[in-house]
Formats: sequence, C-alpha cells, structure tokens
Amino acid sequence: MVNLLIATTNKHKLKELEIRLKSVKGLKIVGFSELDIEPPIIVEDGTTFRANAVKKALTLSRYFEGFVLADDSGIEVDALCGKPGVRSSRFSRINATDAENNKKLIKLMENVPEKKRTAQFVCVLALARKGELLGTFEGFVKGRIVDKRKGKNGFGYDPLFQPDGCKMTFGEMPPASKNKISHRTEALKKLEASIGKYL
Ligand code: IMP
Repeated sequence: MVNLLIATTNKHKLKELEIRLKSVKGLKIVGFSELDIEPPIIVEDGTTFRANAVKKALTLSRYFEGFVLADDSGIEVDALCGKPGVRSSRFSRINATDAENNKKLIKLMENVPEKKRTAQFVCVLALARKGELLGTFEGFVKGRIVDKRKGKNGFGYDPLFQPDGCKMTFGEMPPASKNKISHRTEALKKLEASIGKYL
C-alpha cells in the first residue's frame, strides 16, 4: 500500500476526490486531518489552474512520504472574459464565503442575456512524489450561469451552474449525479488511468 495525501483543506473537494480514489487498489487515501504535521501555507499566485495545482503538489510532496495530489479548480464565465477563473475562491474578497462570491457573480451577470451566460468549471489535478511532478490531469464541464441560487447541495458556485443538457443546477442535483459529470470527475478518470504505472 502506498499513501496518497489529498492536499486540500476544502472538505467538499476532499469528499469528491476521496469517493473515487478509495477504489484504486494499492492506494491508502489520507487527508491533512490524519497527519500530525501542520500543512505549510502555500500562496496560490499562479495565473493558471495548472500552475497553482503543481505548486501545491510539489511543495507538499517535500514534506510527505507518499504521493501528493493537489486540486486547483474554479469557474470561467465567458461574459466576464474567463473571470473569476483562478480567483474563484476569493472573487469578492480574500476569505470570502461562497454566498458572497455567488452574490457578486449574480450582480455582474444581471443584464447578460440568456445566450451569453455560458461558463465552464475547470479542474486541474497535480500528482507529485518527493519533489517530482508525476503528472497533471484536467477536466472541464460546460454549462450556464442561472440568475439566482438554486439548490443547497455542493459548494462554491454549484447553485449558480447548470450543466449543458441538465435541467438542474449542480446545487439541485444529488451529489452522485454531479459526480458523474463534473470537471473533477473527468480529471480523476484521467488520473486513475495513469496512476497504475507509479504503484
Ligand atoms: P481553490 O481552493 O483555490 O482551488 O478554489 C476553488 C474555488 O473554485 C472554490 O472555492 C469554489 O468557489 C470554486 N469551485 C471549484 N470547484 C467547484 C465545484 O465543483 N463546485 C463549485 N465551485 C467550485
């Protein structure tokens, strides 16, 4: 068994990642809560999701024996030229709540017509071990921004995002339905397909 640290303090992301990775043979999944080290503070100053995910994974892999998996993700809204993008978690301010970020997005999208409300969630996972980057894995899901929050499931921008081909937002769907089609799941599938060669 090789340990794999999921390097996130976001309990929602942790859960979504854990659910799939638990079934990979030969891996023991651990979170920060099971370690007795305090995670170092890593400044997410990259201009791309990939740069931030790689920085988190590489930095932490110097502190931890097994694999380290880091996730950087967010939402890109076409009418806002790709914003909030890498600033998704701090769109309205540093340490913003999901409700504050949602409120800002609703306001900015107030006068945007139906056709132009397209957006995508993006997730980049970076896998590292002992200071070496083993790979990065990307996932996307396309959809649109609705005019008000709908649903109480999920986190972040889930109540505002309606994936293409669906009548519900991610916030209205049961978690299992989101996890079938999400950006994180697409990235995870790619990771699962290639992690075997490192085990
Ligand atoms: P990070 O921790 O810097 O990667 O921040 C990611 C931010 O993007 C989160 O705080 C959410 O606001 C948003 N985000 C990423 N993935 C999701 C998702 O699956 N649903 C809703 N919001 C997400």
